[in-house]
Amino acid sequence: AVRALSTNTDAAHPIKHVVVYGSGLMGSGIVQVAATYNYQVTMVDLNPAMLDKGTGYIRSSLKRVARKKFAEDEAQQKHFIEDILSRVQTSTDPLAAAEQADLVVEAIVENVATKRNLFSSLDGVAPPHTIFTSNTSSLPIGQLAEVTARPTKFAGLHFFNPVPQMKLVEVVKTNDTAPEVIETLVDFCKSLKKAPVQCKDTPGFIVNRLLVPYMTEAIRLVERGVASPEDVDTAMKLGAGYPMGPFELVDYIGLDTTKFILDGWYKSGEGLAGDKLVAPSEKLNKLVESGRLGRKSGEGFYKY
Ligand code: CAA
Ligand code: NAD
Repeated sequence: AVRALSTNTDAAHPIKHVVVYGSGLMGSGIVQVAATYNYQVTMVDLNPAMLDKGTGYIRSSLKRVARKKFAEDEAQQKHFIEDILSRVQTSTDPLAAAEQADLVVEAIVENVATKRNLFSSLDGVAPPHTIFTSNTSSLPIGQLAEVTARPTKFAGLHFFNPVPQMKLVEVVKTNDTAPEVIETLVDFCKSLKKAPVQCKDTPGFIVNRLLVPYMTEAIRLVERGVASPEDVDTAMKLGAGYPMGPFELVDYIGLDTTKFILDGWYKSGEGLAGDKLVAPSEKLNKLVESGRLGRKSGEGFYKY
């Protein structure tokens, strides 16, 4: 399916080339979706092994789609996958990649200093029209935008895990983001067949502001010995209709990412700092310390 490239930053610079930083769970998913809908994509990671892992993830994810789409026809399946992958380049050089970007989507580790370093270095090399976005789960977009000289062209673009399956994207506007940039990003999301919602730059935006305290409450409930993780998961799936229980979900998101979010909010989240709602959890800390990061490391609350 060929789609006209009509998404514009301005008339002179349609979004054609998307550069995604980070090839982990989120970055690889965003790359898959953008390439599927005909964007040229560069996937950047400092770690070449992660780039290989990300490419492998995209390939096996596309295989699943291809099998469903062209059940009997292996040649068609192969063509579908190779066509999408032909639009994906990989790079370990963040600065060189930025030179071609119409849109930057940052999906690296959830650490404010690391993200600020990346954005400040990209700002010097990306063309003036390039829109910068972050997929951060919990950090203020404004704190990232302020290290660049393009705060009007800076916004949050928050995808959900697993990116190919989850329809929502939160488009986050700071006090400085230009309305036409938000409009461009909303159009971009629609071109990926996603459903965008708009939100102010506040901790956790909409979904995580509700979801992270909920998952943490589930961990505290187990810490207090009220029930087992398995029974909490069963309860929330069968009693509240959630597709995954909170422990399946925290394993899916990554225990390290969840801990980064909680610790950041407890320390300095606007309206949340010091709130017991986001206080550290000993159980979560111990699991992360021991390298049990959830599904991505093979073990978290459950073994995979
Ligand atoms: N690529 C593209 N599309 C795919 C795909 C792939 N690899 N795999 C499946 N799909 C499509 C399927 O074809 C299907 O589409 P149709 O309905 O049009 O047929 C759709 O995606 C659903 O796929 P599944 O059959 O795999 O879905 P499922 O019923 O097995 O559910 C799940 C899987 C979507 C993961 C579901 O368990 C779920 O919603 N879990 C909760 C996930 C969640 O809450 N995520 C949010 C985490 S929080 C977050 O992300 C924010 C943060 O900052 C931490
Ligand atoms: P991940 O740990 O799977 O991947 C992060 C990747 O970033 C790694 O491959 C790492 O090598 C790379 N990286 C680190 N520093 C880098 C740098 N300076 N330049 C280039 N690459 C670098 O993490 P993830 O789960 O994909 O999360 C990425 C971002 O998306 C975070 O901000 C996270 O909060 C957010 N997010 C996560 C989820 C989720 O469910 N996991 C959902 C939505 C948003």
